[in-house]
Amino acid sequence: MNDTTYSYRDLSGHSKLYCEDVSLAKLASEFGTPLYVYSQAQLLDNFRSFNQSISKSSKKNYVSYAVKANSNPELLKLLASEGAGASVVSGAELLIALRCGIDPKKITFDGPGKTDEEITFALNSNIFAIDVESLQELHVVNDIAGKLSIKGPICIRVNPHVDAKTHPYISTGLSENKFGIAIDDSSEAYRIANSLPNIEIIGIHCHIGSQITDLSVFKEAAESIVKFVIMLKEEEHISLKHINFGGGQAVEYHNAIRHPLLPESSEANSKILSFEDITKAVMPILMESGCTINVEPGRSIVANSGVLISKVLYTKSNGKKNFVIIDAGMNDLIRPSLYHAYHQIVPLSLQINSSQNIVDVVGPICETGDFLAQDREMPVVDRGDHLSIMCTGAYGYVLASNYNLRAKAAEILVDGNSYKIIREREQIEDII
Ligand code: LLP
Repeated sequence: MNDTTYSYRDLSGHSKLYCEDVSLAKLASEFGTPLYVYSQAQLLDNFRSFNQSISKSSKKNYVSYAVKANSNPELLKLLASEGAGASVVSGAELLIALRCGIDPKKITFDGPGKTDEEITFALNSNIFAIDVESLQELHVVNDIAGKLSIKGPICIRVNPHVDAKTHPYISTGLSENKFGIAIDDSSEAYRIANSLPNIEIIGIHCHIGSQITDLSVFKEAAESIVKFVIMLKEEEHISLKHINFGGGQAVEYHNAIRHPLLPESSEANSKILSFEDITKAVMPILMESGCTINVEPGRSIVANSGVLISKVLYTKSNGKKNFVIIDAGMNDLIRPSLYHAYHQIVPLSLQINSSQNIVDVVGPICETGDFLAQDREMPVVDRGDHLSIMCTGAYGYVLASNYNLRAKAAEILVDGNSYKIIREREQIEDII
C-alpha cells in the first residue's frame, strides 16, 4: 500500500487516521457506520502497476479485473477508463461490466455453472471468450451459438492440478476442485471443440487459486499450460491464440498500516509477491507459447484500497476474554468467519498514552462465529470509539448479506481531499 493512502496524521496528543486527505472520523460522522471507504489513488495505482508490468512483454498483453472482488459501478468505471478488461462470473456481472464501459472484446466469462440465458447474453454481447468448464457446457455453447447463427468464441478452462498452497476454500486448480477440465482430458476437449461447427477456439484459461504467496506455484502452472499449448499445436494441429492466466496474487493483510503506537503482527510480510516479481517470473514462460496473455486479478487490484469503518458499541470481559463488540459483523465482512482470514484492526484515533489489550473483536450477529479478530493485541478502545478494519476492498461488500435482517453498509470513494457516496446505505424498509 502507498504510504499516503491510509496514514495517521499527528495532532496535539493524538493521531487521526486519514484516507488520502480525508479524515475517516469525518466520514464516519457524516455517513454513519458500518461504512466501506475506498481510495481512488490506491485502486488506480494497483491497476496501473500491474498493467504496466504485464504489458512490458508485449503491448497486446493486458489486465482484466475480476469483477467478483468488488463490483461497485464507480470502481468499475474508473478501471474501464484505464482500459481494463473484465473477468465476469454471472450474467449480472457481465451486464454491469458492459454498462460501466468495459470493452466487450476484453471480457471473459468464467464459472462452472453458466445458465443458457447467461451464455446467450454473453454471445449476443460479443465478448472476447466464454471460458468453458465442462464438455457439456461446450456443447451447450455450440448449440446456442448455432441458434444465433454465430460462432461462439471459447477458451477451455484447464485444471492443471497445481497446489496453490492457499486456504482450501480458495484453491481452485486441484483435480478434486470443481473447476475446469482436467489437463489430462483437455486434448480430447479441444479435439471435440475443433469438430463443433459453431465454436471458435480462442485459447486457454487457467486459475489455480487466490491469495497465493508462493512464486513457484505460478511458475508450475505457467509451465504446465505452455507445455500443453505446444503439445496441442504439434500433436493435434490446434493452434491457440490466447492464454488467460487467471488471478490469485496475494495482498498484505498483516501490518497493512504501521505506527509506533500500533502493535506489529509477528506474521512475516516478506511472503507477499510484488506485481513485478510475478510478471518477471511468469511472463517469459507464458510468452514462449506465442500467445497473447491476460491475467485477471481481483484482490490485488482492490483489496488495499478499501477499509471498513465500524463503531464500538460495547466492551466487556468475562474473565477469560475481553470483547470489543462493534456495529459491523459477519454480514458486512465474512472473511474472518469463513476463512479465518486476518484483517488488521486499528482505532481511527490513537492516543499518545494509550495502552494495549488482548481482545476478541466481535460483531452484533447472534452466532459465535461472528468475529472480526480473535485474541488480538490492539490499543484499548471504549464505547463510541471508531475502528478501521484494514484491507477490506476485495471480497468485503460483495460478500455482505442481510443476515439477522441487517441492512448493508454504505460505500464512499475518496479522491484526494474530496469524497462521494458510491452506494447508499441500504434501508431496513428495502429488505423487509
Ligand atoms: N479468475 C477466476 C476464475 C477466479 O475464480 C478468481 C477468484 C479470480 C480470477 C480472482 O482471483 P484473485 O486475484 O482475487 O485472487 N472470497 C475469497 C476469494 C475467492 C476467490 C475466487 N476466485 C476471499 O475472500 O478470500
